[in-house]
Amino acid sequence: MTEFSAAEHQLVRDHLLYAESHKPHHDPARDKVLRDKIKQLLKQHNAVLLAHYYTDPLLQQLAEETGGCVSDSLEMARFGHEHPAQTVVVAGVRFMGETAKILNPEKRVLMPTLEATCSLDVGCPIDRFSAFCDAHPDRVVVVYANTSAAVKARADWVVTSSIALKVVEHLHDQGKKIIWAPDQHLGNYVQRETGADVLLWDGACIVHEEFKAKGILDLKQVYPDAVVLAHPESPRAVLDVADYIGSTTQIINAARESSAKRFIVATDQGIFYKLQQQMPNKEFFIAPTAGSGATCRSCANCPWMAMNALDNLADSLEHGTNEIFVDPELGKRAMIPLQRMLDFARQLREKVSGNA
Ligand code: 13P
Ligand code: SF4
Repeated sequence: MTEFSAAEHQLVRDHLLYAESHKPHHDPARDKVLRDKIKQLLKQHNAVLLAHYYTDPLLQQLAEETGGCVSDSLEMARFGHEHPAQTVVVAGVRFMGETAKILNPEKRVLMPTLEATCSLDVGCPIDRFSAFCDAHPDRVVVVYANTSAAVKARADWVVTSSIALKVVEHLHDQGKKIIWAPDQHLGNYVQRETGADVLLWDGACIVHEEFKAKGILDLKQVYPDAVVLAHPESPRAVLDVADYIGSTTQIINAARESSAKRFIVATDQGIFYKLQQQMPNKEFFIAPTAGSGATCRSCANCPWMAMNALDNLADSLEHGTNEIFVDPELGKRAMIPLQRMLDFARQLREKVSGNA
């Protein structure tokens, strides 16, 4: 089993400090000017805006108002791939921009910032990961989308949290043994649910790792009717007290389909924009990150997602800065497992609509 090295811990700490000092400040009058400017720049550059659910609600709103998309990482990849715009602007974290570029090498991919990384990506450097895979050549390599282009290029499959269970189930049915990287909590969950033989890398998301089962149970004492919804990057103890476990989109769908009126949500609080928009009559509480032994640094708010703001988005569009480049040869190799995931997702959708 590999370890999150001291150098990577330092890298995460440095990124956190940088992210903290680059948090957006809101001034309604200035925001309005920037929003209008961005709308005009998107048209002028034949560009489409993709925003992840965890980004600032102002960016999510802008993506909606301009015909872009607000979604999870799988849908962002699919939408950007199929949209005719020549420039794709990705408000999210670096791996999302890289994924868009790999899938669309002929398009220009811009990001508000290139500093927005992810602790899972940082904790899975290609040299160590490649050695890990080489040591287990009998295993199919499945990596989470939250990884670098180089790690994707080393994989047989890329998955996101919304499709991980289905892909591993499919491989397990074929008698395949699996390497899973980088998120150990999601990997553990997938292993428990599918019964597959899974060898885990031990990365973690610094945001989801902070949720506390004890805090959730305390909150349930105040709201015993509340349904607990958790992202599978959360620790095992949190998943054990959850009523529903799923990706960001699956959490939103579960809340919509539930007859409950109150929910405790264990994922980044950016998702509250969509939850409240779609369900104005339901109440949502963020799962506690405090409690005994808690060291809340991000408090259910991904510091890297929070680096995406109106001003750096406008700058990027206006000056063409923060363009994402992926080495074409590497991109071609990474495209194979990514395309495999998109094809698999399309087949699943067709099966569901065929059965409907
Ligand atoms: P989704 O794949 O559900 O969008 O999640 C991405 C992510 O970074 C979760 O922390
Ligand atoms: Fe990465 Fe966690 Fe942030 Fe998602 S929430 S981008 S997994 S650090």
